[in-house]
Amino acid sequence: MSETEPTALVVVGHHRAGSLTAAVAERAAKRLADRGYRVDLLDLEREGFDPRNSVADEPDYSDRDKRYSDEVHAHIARVHAADVIVPVFPVWWYGTPALLKGWIDRVWNYGLAYGRSKSPMAGKRMLWIGLAGLAEDDPLSELTRDLLDKTLRIGVSQYCGIPGAHTLALYDSEGQDLEGEARDRHYEALFAKAEAAVDALLD
Ligand SMILES: Cc1cc2nc3c(=O)[nH]c(=O)nc-3n(C[C@H](O)[C@H](O)[C@H](O)COP(=O)(O)O)c2cc1C
Repeated sequence: MSETEPTALVVVGHHRAGSLTAAVAERAAKRLADRGYRVDLLDLEREGFDPRNSVADEPDYSDRDKRYSDEVHAHIARVHAADVIVPVFPVWWYGTPALLKGWIDRVWNYGLAYGRSKSPMAGKRMLWIGLAGLAEDDPLSELTRDLLDKTLRIGVSQYCGIPGAHTLALYDSEGQDLEGEARDRHYEALFAKAEAAVDALLD
């Protein structure tokens, strides 16, 4: 592994090992590795990340150098080390599950991710991949895409100084009404969309 090898942090925001979310994250991670990235795969559940906030991790807006919990500093070090960040998660109530939301709440903290004249996130690229149970032609799918894009790409990434961020919604993640090979083909198409989004992020 060379010192100059770029790093990608792939974050899995799902509680269940073997979820489709985890499979999409693995495919995205493999694509990043194939494109020459050292991949840091962060599975929040398997690493025992606690999404609940605490007084220790509340921002103190009079002190941007506040020392937060060791867990938060360990996680932000992995974020800072990454050139590319790819959170993968199931869409729950038009947003991220609490597991991933808590990671953003605690780790993307004042002084660590935002609140400095020179952004600690400058130059990074980011791709949020949300798996949605809704069918793509569902009247609510546009709202899903719009809400994810506004809250995550603009609200989190851009706010923290990452203009090069994108969101991707993968619809019909439960493959309802599909069986056997048709279902496999559907999942393969979702993987391909995630890989294409990774390629677009890097190109
Ligand atoms: C609590 C909860 C909330 C959900 N909310 C949404 C939603 O707002 N929009 C949507 O399209 N699907 C929603 N779903 C469906 C999930 O997105 C879907 O089950 C998931 O993407 C399947 O991927 P997985 O096998 O990796 O869990 C929800 C599921 C749960 C359990």
